[in-house]
Amino acid sequence: MKNIPVIMIIFGGSGDLAHRKLYPSLFNLYEQGLIHDNFAVIGTARRPWSHEYLREQVSDAIHETHDQVDENEVKAFASHFYYQSHDVTNVEHYVTLKKLAQELDDRYSAQGNRLFYMAMAPRFFGTIATHINDQHLTGSGFNRIVVEKPFGHDIASAEQLNKEITASFDENDIFRIDHYLGKEMIQNIMPMRFTNPLIKNIWSGEYIKNIQITLAERLGVEARGGYYDTSGALRDMVQNHIFQIITLLAMPEPKDLSSDSVHQAKQELLKSLIIPTPEEVKKNFVRGQYLGSDTTFAYKKEPNVDPDSTTETYVAGKTKFTSGPIAGVPIYFRTGKEFKEKKTRIDIVLKHINNPYGQAHSNNITIEVDPESKIYITINGKKIDEPGIRREDLTYVFSKEEMAKVPDGYERLLHDVFVNDSTNFTHWSELKRYWEFIDAVEDAWQKENEAGNPEIAQYLPYRMGPKEADNIFESPTEHWIYE
Ligand code: BG6
Repeated sequence: MKNIPVIMIIFGGSGDLAHRKLYPSLFNLYEQGLIHDNFAVIGTARRPWSHEYLREQVSDAIHETHDQVDENEVKAFASHFYYQSHDVTNVEHYVTLKKLAQELDDRYSAQGNRLFYMAMAPRFFGTIATHINDQHLTGSGFNRIVVEKPFGHDIASAEQLNKEITASFDENDIFRIDHYLGKEMIQNIMPMRFTNPLIKNIWSGEYIKNIQITLAERLGVEARGGYYDTSGALRDMVQNHIFQIITLLAMPEPKDLSSDSVHQAKQELLKSLIIPTPEEVKKNFVRGQYLGSDTTFAYKKEPNVDPDSTTETYVAGKTKFTSGPIAGVPIYFRTGKEFKEKKTRIDIVLKHINNPYGQAHSNNITIEVDPESKIYITINGKKIDEPGIRREDLTYVFSKEEMAKVPDGYERLLHDVFVNDSTNFTHWSELKRYWEFIDAVEDAWQKENEAGNPEIAQYLPYRMGPKEADNIFESPTEHWIYE
């Protein structure tokens, strides 16, 4: 693998994301030789850490995520890390940062390449982008920036942030990260759809009755009440992860696998996304909040959550496209905290056919993303010793050994940033369209809140979310496949 020279600057270097995901992933890429002799990482945050202390943190992060490591390798890797105490609002600090980056560039022969990573509270993204620009932090080689979610809070703030970032970076150099696009089974959607005649030929409204996407989480909001209460499930999960999944399922076949062609196919589809009216929001969307149990808090009692909060910890909804291979097919989705189990799955529900046996199952296709990775198709056959139809699943599943080889989503996506492949990142025009949809729903809810009659279903924790979500289907023959 090619050794890519680069100075990487992580804003939020003392944070949880850097510790849990970025440092271990960078280590794996280092071991594979993608970044090796000619790279250095500057971790920045407000805390007064030393280079040495950051290196200890990096080493701890690797030990926490790897069973066996070569201590010399860990030491050599950690020696590439530098810490710069940094207040993102202080212009002087960018001057110091620039100087350090330049020094390290010389020391590591990084050829003026810079990679900026925004891994801190999103409210600072705009400030950082502005100062990268006005203090000329970009280098003389390539300049790329990775931006964590949420990218904005609504379309207006997303546009503002995009303006601030594009002042220093071209669209092609902006990597809006969505870790779902790094997941094995999400990356499997395109090959599954486009290489199997069996699947490709039925991918239309003629055969598909509906599509269902479930992103269920067992955990509550945990220590993130402060952030979550300003976000809610729609912004936290639908705006990004669910919409990316929907797009992969509904887009036309790209003309090839280049990043440009994939994004072109996505954008073509998204033009025909139907933005819901307030009446449709009322009819097709359900929002909910989890109640408490003997051992857990109700959402409204969680730390840093407003006791009168109307923020949803659950949302179910429906969307459709007017063009593309599955134009007109209802796509139902739901996501929530404190479900009965962690489960990310996609169900492609096929239409029934008339047959001389009477009752038979439609050949539903299920893609399980988490915690297991598998695809299964329901098949009908005959029962052995009595009349009737028996149902079996044909399963495509990974062995334990194969699963162990699957890289973490962050490792994959960081790799893509280094090799400049933006296929699995969100393009601005996609993001904008997602926000248009989300804003329409949020606005409708806001109006209901202001009118004093918000319909927020309260649901019991560790079950399947509010019952009301059973009523969003277009026809009485439709229901949630995963129950
Ligand atoms: C994040 C959300 O983007 O995704 C979290 O902010 C959520 O609220 C998480 O818990 C879920 O990711 P995963 O990979 O565990 O399904």
